[in-house]
Amino acid sequence: MILTSQRLKSNFLGIELENPFILSAAPSTDELSITRRGLEMGWAGVVLKTTSMETTRVDLAYPMMSSFVADNRLIGMGNIDLISAYHVDEVCRRVNILKKEFPNKMIAASIMSDSQLGWQTLVKMLKGAGVDLIECSFSCPQGNVGEDPGKMLAQSESATEQVATWVKQAAGDIPVLIKITPQVTDIVAIARAVQRSGCDGVTASNSMPALMGIDIDRLTPIPNLGGKSTYSGLTGPAIKPITLRTIAEIARNIPEMVISGNGGVSDWRDSVELIAVGASNIQICTAVMLHGFDIINDLTSGLDNYLQSKNIGSVKSLVGKALPNLTDHSNLPRQQIRSYVIKENCIGCGRCYVACRDGGHEALSWDESARLPVISIEKCVGCGLCILTQPVERCLELRELSK
Ligand SMILES: Cc1cc2nc3c(=O)[nH]c(=O)nc-3n(C[C@H](O)[C@H](O)[C@H](O)COP(=O)(O)O)c2cc1C
Repeated sequence: MILTSQRLKSNFLGIELENPFILSAAPSTDELSITRRGLEMGWAGVVLKTTSMETTRVDLAYPMMSSFVADNRLIGMGNIDLISAYHVDEVCRRVNILKKEFPNKMIAASIMSDSQLGWQTLVKMLKGAGVDLIECSFSCPQGNVGEDPGKMLAQSESATEQVATWVKQAAGDIPVLIKITPQVTDIVAIARAVQRSGCDGVTASNSMPALMGIDIDRLTPIPNLGGKSTYSGLTGPAIKPITLRTIAEIARNIPEMVISGNGGVSDWRDSVELIAVGASNIQICTAVMLHGFDIINDLTSGLDNYLQSKNIGSVKSLVGKALPNLTDHSNLPRQQIRSYVIKENCIGCGRCYVACRDGGHEALSWDESARLPVISIEKCVGCGLCILTQPVERCLELRELSK
């Protein structure tokens, strides 16, 4: 059942969204039938997979997907996908169809080009087709098309400002988001370049360029395409901390910047985190590719229940709520805290003892007869390493020294 709640509704750059969850540019938005199903299931909008001019060759190579597994859990996904093989004329046709079928959903298109004429022609064609918003991919890990195809536009302040200015000139009153990469030295400088261009906001961010692994029997990188490989774009849970930092850093320095959050969101809790550091809405790709469109039900009901339980009246009221608590290292309180063993919960595994012995402060000793770790209050600094090794809930906890 599709949840419609007042709390989840928002106005994003003049576009009414029934909830903050949008399908990001990816395979799920590359086929009309698939995209249509996503919208029917309750997603508030789509960014159609990045398109370009008819002259742009899209030479895909398979297999394109790979995984990053740790502790038997897929925590990241890799892809060597390129932009859509559908060129702009076909995407315009789809925008037109989708806008008629779903007048109350956000139908956005993502574009990439290699010249002023190319960027502006794409924008004008999509505008003519009735698109609600244009997103510019300045951050495909396989690089942008054009003279410097291996490089991402959003790695250069001047290129970002120049191209974003061209796009906004052509877009006029249609909102434009620039999809940036976290893989830069100064993310705020890139966001400021977007601001100077007159574009309306950023999508923060995209997949992270990565090498997914090496098959150590064949000594070939992954994914293996006939013995060869290349760098992938890493997506999914593994990149959430990077996305959070990217959004937070922009929002702290440029509070007026409109941010569409993207990267590593798997459930409603993740979405709360991204919104709380400054995202106005959430784009999702990997979680949908792995678990299907149905996750929209958990996302909307989970977020709505959370807002209600916290007495927060709207998604907008949550935007940036965690930022006042984010500060620089030098401003952190210097706390007197120590680790405590909660004996009744300890299962005697000894993991905390080993970690503190070899990676901490030798503050834990091991009582073999009781099979319990014993903490030296003098040696413990409260670093928190032992807490990370807990095999069960609350067998250790940090407490203020006086308590
Ligand atoms: C197979 C695949 C293809 C993608 N294609 C595009 C694309 O054409 N344009 C784009 O801007 N982002 C593309 N992305 C990136 C996603 O839109 C999204 O930014 C990224 O996956 C991070 O979000 P996630 O962690 O929710 O997956 C693609 C991602 C995947 C996995």
